[in-house]
Amino acid sequence: MKSLLKTLAVVAVAVPAVAFAAITGSKHDLSSTNTGVAVHSTGANATDQICIFCHAPHKALSQSLIWNHRAGSVTGFTAGQYTVGGTTLPTTVQAPSMACLNCHDGTVALGDVNSTTVANGGAGIIGVTTVANHTNATGMLIGYALVGNGTSLNGNHPVSIPYAGATYNGIPSGISSGNVTGNYTAVNSSCTGSPSGICITAGANTLPLFKVVGADTGGVECGSCHDVHNKLNNTYFLRVTATGSAICLACHIK
Ligand code: HEC
Ligand code: HEC
Ligand code: HEC
Ligand code: HEC
Repeated sequence: MKSLLKTLAVVAVAVPAVAFAAITGSKHDLSSTNTGVAVHSTGANATDQICIFCHAPHKALSQSLIWNHRAGSVTGFTAGQYTVGGTTLPTTVQAPSMACLNCHDGTVALGDVNSTTVANGGAGIIGVTTVANHTNATGMLIGYALVGNGTSLNGNHPVSIPYAGATYNGIPSGISSGNVTGNYTAVNSSCTGSPSGICITAGANTLPLFKVVGADTGGVECGSCHDVHNKLNNTYFLRVTATGSAICLACHIK
């Protein structure tokens, strides 16, 4: 009886853990044990760890987010691409989106990190699968690489831009307040669901807006639309579904 109770207790604890959406088992779980997704670690330099591709407890590249992945060569949009109301919006991608482009520009190997678990904690390249239409022979992304012409992000929704009417990276939005009203959802500046405290509230969900310098009042980065850790378990890691373009309508009143 005692052991039966113990078994029941274990089951009761285990059920919610399985039901929670998480990075484990998602396409961002590149560990060797996640064989259910096309791209995962394999071969002599394989790792069974999940976080190490992006964060390392020691010998990371940067103190910020203890970030462990090396940057690729694509840094932004073609100069002058986004001009709104006479203001040219920034073309250099800021750190929060650069973190994604470390893998999603397709110019650096997925396993190219500063601290590996497979080389005595030294720098190295963790092995990943080579899969047609997913990764090339050197372990770089192909299908989910966002860079069309090899050098610029043109053709993608702008990132590292101030939200309409806001200031980001010290740069004010070029959209006049008259054009914000009725065209863009108002910024929620006391938002508990966003690390910066600023967000767009979309029903039960939040689309976080970012701060990179102190006086910023909200910028759009990849993480505004996507949740890298897959907590919401939506298709494409989206914070709001793309069905009926709900995610677009959360910011743009169209
Ligand atoms: C594919 C890359 C990637 C992987 C793998 C990853 N993270 Fe993250 N993590 C990020 C990014 C990017 C951010 C910054 C938040 C953002 O931009 O949305 C972050 C932020 C964080 C933060 C601080 C902010 C927050 O959201 O709480 C913690 C803590 C964290 N990650 C823990 C983990 C742990 C633990 C694991 C492994 C189980 C993990 N991460 C795996 C990319 C990753
Ligand atoms: C360590 C490398 C790495 C980093 C860093 C990374 N990703 Fe990914 N991402 C991947 C891989 C690998 C896949 C799956 C590719 C495939 O199957 O072809 C993926 C898939 C995705 C997908 C598609 C998910 C789906 O359901 O099809 C989205 C969206 C995505 N990533 C967004 C992001 C965003 C946003 C960031 C930054 C916050 C980020 N990624 C950072 C490696 C990375
Ligand atoms: C304004 C919202 C928004 C921003 C900002 C955004 N995305 Fe997406 N992303 C989407 C939506 C919506 C989809 C789903 C597209 C679909 O349903 O076909 C998507 C799909 C993706 C996919 C998978 C499908 C594909 O077409 O390749 C990847 C990978 C991805 N995003 C990565 C990123 C990265 C990296 C950034 C930052 C450089 C970023 N996204 C910024 C909204 C956004
Ligand atoms: C987090 C808020 C947010 C979301 C979500 C969002 N946008 Fe945007 N979008 C902006 C901001 C801010 C701008 C910059 C203002 C501008 O350039 O007009 C912008 C710009 C644009 C532009 C003009 C680009 C240019 O070159 O001037 C288009 C078109 C657009 N968005 C379409 C979309 C679509 C389609 C979706 C859904 C896939 C989407 N947006 C989702 C905030 C958002």
